[in-house]
Amino acid sequence: MARILTGIQSTGIPHLGNILGAIQPAIALANSNNNEAFLFIADLHSLTTIKDADARRLYVRSVAAAWLAFGLDTERHTFYRQSDIPEVAEFTWYLSCFTPFPMLANAHSFKDKSDRLADVNAGLFTYPVLMASDILMYDAEFVPVGKDQLQHLEMTRDIASTFNHRVGETLLLPEPKIVENTMLVPGIDGQKMSKSYGNYINIFEDEKPLRKRVMKIITDSKGVEDVKDPDTCNVFNIFKLVAPESATAALRAQYLAGGMGYGHAKQALFEMLRDTFANERAKYQEFMANPDLIEQHLKQGAIKARNVAKEVLAKVRSRLGY
Ligand code: TRP
Repeated sequence: MARILTGIQSTGIPHLGNILGAIQPAIALANSNNNEAFLFIADLHSLTTIKDADARRLYVRSVAAAWLAFGLDTERHTFYRQSDIPEVAEFTWYLSCFTPFPMLANAHSFKDKSDRLADVNAGLFTYPVLMASDILMYDAEFVPVGKDQLQHLEMTRDIASTFNHRVGETLLLPEPKIVENTMLVPGIDGQKMSKSYGNYINIFEDEKPLRKRVMKIITDSKGVEDVKDPDTCNVFNIFKLVAPESATAALRAQYLAGGMGYGHAKQALFEMLRDTFANERAKYQEFMANPDLIEQHLKQGAIKARNVAKEVLAKVRSRLGY
């Protein structure tokens, strides 16, 4: 049994790309091989960009509702909100005093963000230290992350070994577990589905707006009678990620036979999304209508997480003479 840990961004409402590319694979990984997972909503990190309290509450709630709707087992795993563990902020300070300034200055995620964003705050700069704290606070053994986070993991290991070297063996060095994003989920314009491109599909929407969104998917201008290429069609490429093989084969045949308009394919995709996720859509709505229920899950996770955090922090304080 291994302890795996990962942080979940809360900067928007989870869309189809997040669900297929992150939520479902992470839940599968958590449940495999007797693993024990620490999964948390990184709402302290979200402050680097989101300043609005209502937006933060909404995003935390909808991220939690999505993970719960997709069946994350909060008895077996530890599912919590980062800000419910105040120890992590204290620990971040300690770690920051073992973090070389040039290491942060060379972080490519900081360079990217500081080129792109108008608000270049110190939180963006120290973001990797908070992330190291998230990981080292819970003695995590494996951290599944995308390639873009690999440098942050290397920094975490560097910070931990510097700490151990200076004050004595204390922190467990985590192994990154790179999760290749094999699932390329196209958005309604065919680019990678992303909140920032505004091309996402929110499968939790009511039927009417969900259908309207699917109808907006960009296609070429072939007429009903024309033979169509499924493999270059955004509608088909989304459909096949969700549908069973038999339904995908049937739709492919319709593309190749001609006589089927894109409106028909879009209707098929809409129905596939609605029906495949019927259960999750209903559960999501239930959770969103009942924030107390979400709170119960998160509070239960916070208790478990905090017990571990307190133990690690006690060792750290003692090492440092506090
Ligand atoms: N920075 C991560 C991301 O952008 C989120 C995150 C925060 C995280 N703390 C973490 C991931 C700790 C893994 C471990 O996706």
